[in-house]
Amino acid sequence: MVTPSRLFVGLCVLAACSLAIQGETWSQAGSDRIKGNQIYMEKGCALCHAIHGKGGKAGPDLSGVGAKRDAEWLEQFMISPKAVVPQAKMPAFKGSAEEREALVAYLQSLR
Ligand code: HEC
Repeated sequence: MVTPSRLFVGLCVLAACSLAIQGETWSQAGSDRIKGNQIYMEKGCALCHAIHGKGGKAGPDLSGVGAKRDAEWLEQFMISPKAVVPQAKMPAFKGSAEEREALVAYLQSLR
C-alpha cells in the first residue's frame, strides 16, 4: 500500500536521482572549470588578481578576461607571459599541462 510517507520517500528518491543526473551533465562541462578555480587559488593567482572585487591589485582584474582573451592567448600567456606581452612582469604558470588546461577553462568562463 502506498502510504503518504512512502509516497514522500519515493518522491524524494526521484528528486535526488534527477538532481544527480543533472549534476552529472553539469559537472562534466564544469569539472575543468571547478578544478581550474582550485588551481587558481592554490597557485596564488588571487594574490595579484581580483575577480569580482576579491583579490590582489598587482595585476589586472580578471572578471571579464574570458570575453577579452581566447583560450589560445591564455594558454600561451600562462606558459610564458613575456612571449605574449614582452614587458610582462607576471611569473609564468608552474604546473602540469593538465592543470594549465583546467586553469584556462576556468579563465575562459570569466565573462
Ligand atoms: C606576482 C603577481 C602575479 C601573479 C602571482 C599572477 N599574475 Fe597574472 N598578471 C600579473 C600582472 C602584473 C599582469 C599584467 C601583465 C604583466 O605586466 O605581466 C598579469 C596578467 C595576467 C593576465 C592577462 C590579463 C589581460 O587581459 O591582459 C592573465 C589572464 C593572468 N595574469 C592570469 C594569472 C593567473 C591564472 C595566475 C596564477 C597562475 C596569475 N595571473 C598570477 C601579475 C600576477
